[in-house]
Amino acid sequence: MRVVRTKADVLEASRSERAAGRSIAFVPTMGAFHDGHLALIRSARAGADVVVVSIFVNPLQFSRAEDLASYPRDESTDLAHAEAEGVDVVFAPAAAEMYPGGAATRVSVGRLGEIFEGAARPGHFDGVCTVVAQLFNLVAPDVALFGLKDAQQVAVIKRMIADLCFPVAIEVCATQRAEDGLALSSRNRLLDAGHRRKAAILFDALQAGESTWRSGAGAEATEAAMWQRLSEVDGIDPDYARVVDPDTFEEASPDHALAIVAARLGGVRLIDNLLLDPSS
Ligand code: PAF
Repeated sequence: MRVVRTKADVLEASRSERAAGRSIAFVPTMGAFHDGHLALIRSARAGADVVVVSIFVNPLQFSRAEDLASYPRDESTDLAHAEAEGVDVVFAPAAAEMYPGGAATRVSVGRLGEIFEGAARPGHFDGVCTVVAQLFNLVAPDVALFGLKDAQQVAVIKRMIADLCFPVAIEVCATQRAEDGLALSSRNRLLDAGHRRKAAILFDALQAGESTWRSGAGAEATEAAMWQRLSEVDGIDPDYARVVDPDTFEEASPDHALAIVAARLGGVRLIDNLLLDPSS
């Protein structure tokens, strides 16, 4: 496994693999790997000749300086996992490499990037799109893999790919969950034991919403059921509990609907979602 830290080196690695006729699967990450990342890497490994993983805590997608400072980092453990999973190239640049003096261009998908997570974290999705666009240009993957846990990010990236004609296919992998249902996320490491126990309420709320949806009660009742369940936990600060179209994050239709929730617990922002079965 090669670890490269400059744009020139990752570009050269990708060009030589492509010149040799090998396909490239790309897993962009911010490190602090959990089983969700490993599932993405395994899926990448199964589907392409070459697997490239990026590890970069992207300052542009953090709206508050303290979030960036407290974001978990564990590069040596991540590299050991990547090696064990058969990754070929890890791109782990410094911030100054990605954003040298003078870098000013931003990629924005408009309203889709400004609602829900975009409203709670202004500029977040511009930061995500800007770095992912750079990474796509450097790695030139055939396929890029993202986790459904960040469903709005998936919708935003798909929009960007379509609008800017990136020749990249997207593979979306299922959310990996802890035994109590909590969606795996690097941010979970920031929860203390008490808040970690309470955090399973997000998945509980989604399941309550799903059973309301299945009863045919509609979006409004589904949202009320989720909000009610979230509010039952002491010390939680729910932000939203909604049913949306998974591609636009606007109004859902009965056969194309996603339940989404977000809440802060002990100062940590948690999000989760569940596709609502059209047959129900
Ligand atoms: O999902 C993430 O880890 C990040 O948002 C991504 C896609 C690597 C961009 O920094």
